[in-house]
Amino acid sequence: MARLRVKIGVIGAGAVGGTLARLLAKLGHQVSIANSRGPESLTALATEIGASSASMVDAAQAAEIVIVAIPTKAVADLPQSLFANVPGSVVVVDTGNYHPELRDGRIDAIDRGMLDSEWVAQQIGRPVIKAFNNILATSLREGSCERDDGADRSLGRGRFG
Ligand SMILES: NC(=O)c1ccc[n+]([C@@H]2O[C@H](COP(=O)([O-])OP(=O)(O)OC[C@H]3O[C@@H](n4cnc5c(N)ncnc54)[C@H](OP(=O)(O)O)[C@@H]3O)[C@@H](O)[C@H]2O)c1
Repeated sequence: MARLRVKIGVIGAGAVGGTLARLLAKLGHQVSIANSRGPESLTALATEIGASSASMVDAAQAAEIVIVAIPTKAVADLPQSLFANVPGSVVVVDTGNYHPELRDGRIDAIDRGMLDSEWVAQQIGRPVIKAFNNILATSLREGSCERDDGADRSLGRGRFG
């Protein structure tokens, strides 16, 4: 049975974004990676993992699925128009975990009880699906291995394989 090939834009190419991009590209998906420093800064990584480097806008606009894998506080810095021309059918995945002490500082709305994914959705003006936030990037990478049928165990054929 032919595998589904999906265009996936990954915003954030660090521990989680870089790992997901690597695994998804290995599965044959068309992956674009982006960060705040521009595509040139990701050329070497993109070449290594079989993805393309892109601006954030291009990564989002060319995708059928967009994965946002950046620190929660950085979501507020994303370009205002990032999703303006992205069709409503495009699924946006949020991998983030709010870490006020460690990294994000205080975000009042979340401290007052709003779900962090709800806050992210409000910032970007799009509903999000929370995923991959409950697994360490190292586990994702190291636990990823091909099953006998060729699917990837950590990502699963049903969702991304
Ligand atoms: N590490 C884990 O094991 C793990 C597991 C589950 C969930 N998470 C969550 O996933 C999210 C990402 O974590 P991570 O560990 O992958 O972080 P990371 O390794 O620090 O990588 C963050 C990435 O986001 C990019 N970035 C930062 N600010 C940006 C902005 N304003 N616009 C666009 N890109 C930006 C960074 O590149 P530039 O700075 O060059 O733009 C970098 O590529 C966090 O919310 C974290 O809590 C992490």
